[in-house]
Amino acid sequence: MKPIKVGLLGLGTVGTGVVRIVEGHQDDLSSQVGSPIRIEKVLVKDLQKARNVAIPEEMLTEEAGDIIHNPDIDVVVEVMGGIEPTKQYIMDALEQGKHVVTANKDLMAVHGREIMAKAKEKRCDVFYEASVAGGIPIIRTLMEGFSSDRIKKIMGIVNGTTNFILTKMSQEGAGYEEVLKEAQALGYAESDPTSDVEGLDAARKMAILATLGFHSDVALEDVDVRGISQIKKEDIAFAKRLGYEMKLLGIAERQDDQISVVVQPTMVSTSHPLAAVNGVFNAVYVYGEAVGETMFYGPGAGEMPTATSVVADLVAVIKNMKLGVNGQRALTPYKEKKLKTDDQIAYKNFILLHVEDKAGVLAQITQVFAEYEVSLDSVVQQPNPHNPDAEIIIVTHQASQASMKKVYKHFDNLDVIKSIKSAYRVEG
Ligand SMILES: NC(=O)c1ccc[n+]([C@@H]2O[C@H](COP(=O)([O-])OP(=O)(O)OC[C@H]3O[C@@H](n4cnc5c(N)ncnc54)[C@H](OP(=O)(O)O)[C@@H]3O)[C@@H](O)[C@H]2O)c1
Repeated sequence: MKPIKVGLLGLGTVGTGVVRIVEGHQDDLSSQVGSPIRIEKVLVKDLQKARNVAIPEEMLTEEAGDIIHNPDIDVVVEVMGGIEPTKQYIMDALEQGKHVVTANKDLMAVHGREIMAKAKEKRCDVFYEASVAGGIPIIRTLMEGFSSDRIKKIMGIVNGTTNFILTKMSQEGAGYEEVLKEAQALGYAESDPTSDVEGLDAARKMAILATLGFHSDVALEDVDVRGISQIKKEDIAFAKRLGYEMKLLGIAERQDDQISVVVQPTMVSTSHPLAAVNGVFNAVYVYGEAVGETMFYGPGAGEMPTATSVVADLVAVIKNMKLGVNGQRALTPYKEKKLKTDDQIAYKNFILLHVEDKAGVLAQITQVFAEYEVSLDSVVQQPNPHNPDAEIIIVTHQASQASMKKVYKHFDNLDVIKSIKSAYRVEG
């Protein structure tokens, strides 16, 4: 039977896994799609580089045109990463009528709309399952599994690097800088870790998940982002004492068609399933109006987990080719995007205050919360062993962010408060 021919852009971590799976699982794959799947050409940057997988020399090329303008190639699998020239290669491949599978969240979060429009015009498929939470099939789940439901909330631990760092800080009581160095030595964090630790990588993934879950065109700029680099080990110790784990959560919520998407360090109650997601693992919690609570857990990166998702997309593309229905998954978000304002975003807050240790302080502070109609869940005051001042830990009930901003502003003018040491969102 005529094989389906694939051009692979990139033979790094994920590309190597794709070759291994396509070769190693060939019997199962060809039985599922009704044709052999053959990797025809592989684009690399450096032909001389040693490869971790046996591949005939003549299959490698440094010329993208050998794939994009090769009339024999049906599907282009993009696992080279980056924005340019990758975007141009994908657009050119679509122009040539080739279907595309990509693992590139950077590209899909920023240029996904344009790429999907071109795919629709050319009646081509563009599948990108591996771009969010590597080995967890969350995109297919949102698009197909939950197509009958109305999703209200998506919470994700979608960055393995930061989850590794926070897990180590929590389990070993270690400081942020120390654990970051360990993560870099282990290859879990890049030498420039900014994109991971400042929450940008998670924000890109949350923009993709929110777009799919809420059928609205959520852009990266719509995501309010705060990373983990300012988290102190004391904050984590306080979280644990109160029954929470500190996690970098992406939280996308919808209420009456108004949505908010944030990425921020969050204290998650230990009774919530996300609190138990440790190390480099990822998890996505989805709350649907009809289904209720669900959670999807698994490896968020790595050669074989990521390649599993990439090749599953390849199978889906080929099945569509057999049925002659390519290009129909390029759904246009059909709901107008309405972002929540600060007075519509409400959640529980943890606040750690450094205060003067004298009579009446607590009363003054609780009076400020009362003035802005923020009700309190718990208040704990403790002496500070290192100086004559005290620390007050407050957990609020759900409070609008507009009210909380007024509270913080008022605190700035209250003499008894020396500083707001930490403030975090609380979930669960
Ligand atoms: N690694 C993961 O676990 C993971 C998980 C989810 C998603 N992803 C995504 O998957 C993609 C690939 O990641 P990766 O970790 O496999 O990357 P990688 O190990 O750095 O591999 C990149 C590959 O692309 C080739 N390449 C890069 N730029 C090129 C250019 N301008 N022209 C020709 N070839 C070029 C490189 O060639 P040489 O080998 O010759 O240098 C290399 O083979 C990225 O979009 C990433 O975000 C990765």
